[in-house]
Amino acid sequence: MNMMNQDINLSDALPEDETSRQYYYIEKARLYVQELSSRIGRPLTFCVTTFGCQMNARDSEKLRGILREIGYLEAEEDQADFVIYNTCTVRENANTRVYGRLGQLKPRKKKNPHMMIGLCGCMMQEPEVIEKLKKSYPFVDIIFGTHNIFKFAELIAERFATDKPVIDIWEGTDQIVENLPNQRKYAFKSGVNIMFGCNNFCSYCIVPYVRGRERSREPQAILDEIRRLAKDGVVEIMLLGQNVNSYGKTLDEPMTFAQLLTEIEKIEGIKRIRFMTSHPKDLSDELIEVMSRSSKICRHLHLPVQSGSSRVLKQMNRRYTKEQYLELVEKIRKAVPGISLTTDIIVGFPGETEEDFQETLDIVRKVRYDSAFTFIYSKRTGTPAAKMKDQVPEEMIKDRFQRLLTEVQNIAAEVCSVHEGTTQEVLVESICDHDPSMVTGRLSNNLLVHFHGDASLIGKLLPVHLTECKGFYYLGEPGM
Ligand code: SAH
Ligand code: SF4
Ligand code: F3S
Repeated sequence: MNMMNQDINLSDALPEDETSRQYYYIEKARLYVQELSSRIGRPLTFCVTTFGCQMNARDSEKLRGILREIGYLEAEEDQADFVIYNTCTVRENANTRVYGRLGQLKPRKKKNPHMMIGLCGCMMQEPEVIEKLKKSYPFVDIIFGTHNIFKFAELIAERFATDKPVIDIWEGTDQIVENLPNQRKYAFKSGVNIMFGCNNFCSYCIVPYVRGRERSREPQAILDEIRRLAKDGVVEIMLLGQNVNSYGKTLDEPMTFAQLLTEIEKIEGIKRIRFMTSHPKDLSDELIEVMSRSSKICRHLHLPVQSGSSRVLKQMNRRYTKEQYLELVEKIRKAVPGISLTTDIIVGFPGETEEDFQETLDIVRKVRYDSAFTFIYSKRTGTPAAKMKDQVPEEMIKDRFQRLLTEVQNIAAEVCSVHEGTTQEVLVESICDHDPSMVTGRLSNNLLVHFHGDASLIGKLLPVHLTECKGFYYLGEPGM
């Protein structure tokens, strides 16, 4: 989708405004793509693979939008002339996977000299990674980071012009470039960035180092984007930020997240509003109140707890205690009865004792989450926790991880089944993966339900009777 009707003439001077500059490079890159494509006698294709979180998924939609504008067609990775990995580095295994996949691309690139490989995303913000890529993976064509993703077209044009690898990494930015192309994965729902970066510096986490300082988008830009999306058929939006509860603090005219939500609610056509991630320390009474009286904000809150031990939470620099977290949960549940709560938990943070781990099990039993993402602590170079003493032995972590997983899953199965027999509003998202005579939809609380239906229902909201809970999803029947 071309967001702006940019009138670009390549014989004019390079425009100054950053958005127009990038449309200029889109035109330029388009000519190179046309030339190469007529040389090899077929259209050029691309594949963007996303690692990591929703923020990265949204960035990948922007990459796809630009590639489409330039004249590439989307294809499977093994067919693609341009393979892009949008990387994550939150845990070490995310990095390992990228190196593995790169290794597999090498022989393919040797056979197809016109093939291009691009790397971007959080992993590229780490100097050691760039060193390693230069040394061991010199066949990569374009490398850029999280701060200059808007320059994608410019970097492609440069790669074509110079025929040399292009590496462009910025250490940080205060720039937010609006109105570039993007291509949504779903017609009826979309992520919307409301802020970038993170200032929290949880001691285990690398995100503040690779995503930079917290920057909020101007409310007007967010509201305009959502209005455009609504006009284009989007009914559900997911507001994205590492810490949405601190939205607006850095704006010239500060605005709270709750105020932003109130404005978004007024937009006609938007039927469901989701957001992530909420940091417990910044979740305000004002937000709880807005949620409690909203008919559009979904009854689901992702509220990462990370640990149930106040001692570990302090070491993690989370700035809340177990008791404060539990009080918050109580307040939310009182204001929004039946709300689904999900969380993230880290096992094996340095110095975590069996007693600390018991506190985590205890908070899981007390809150009774609808689901929880459980992670084994991963040491990230440059973070304070990496230097902490008493790193927990691997065997011990694995054992705790298993015990936690069992607890979380048993509770989730019980919690999820409470809606059995009720009728709920469902947004139909796709044809069911396992049975083409069925469709899959999502409840307000984020659970999935499969029921008989066809592709004409996709993107529609309809009542569905939840006949049977199958653990983490439902079977249902429409229209009762
Ligand atoms: N901003 C979000 C989370 C972003 S990262 C928040 O504060 O909740 C997503 C999750 O990855 C985190 O919630 C945390 O549970 C996990 N995580 C982050 N760093 C990690 C590390 N070094 N090892 C293991 N898990 C980690
Ligand atoms: Fe990482 Fe903490 Fe920021 Fe989340 S809030 S991204 S866990 S530093
Ligand atoms: Fe990963 Fe970056 Fe997201 S490190 S979790 S992709 S912000």
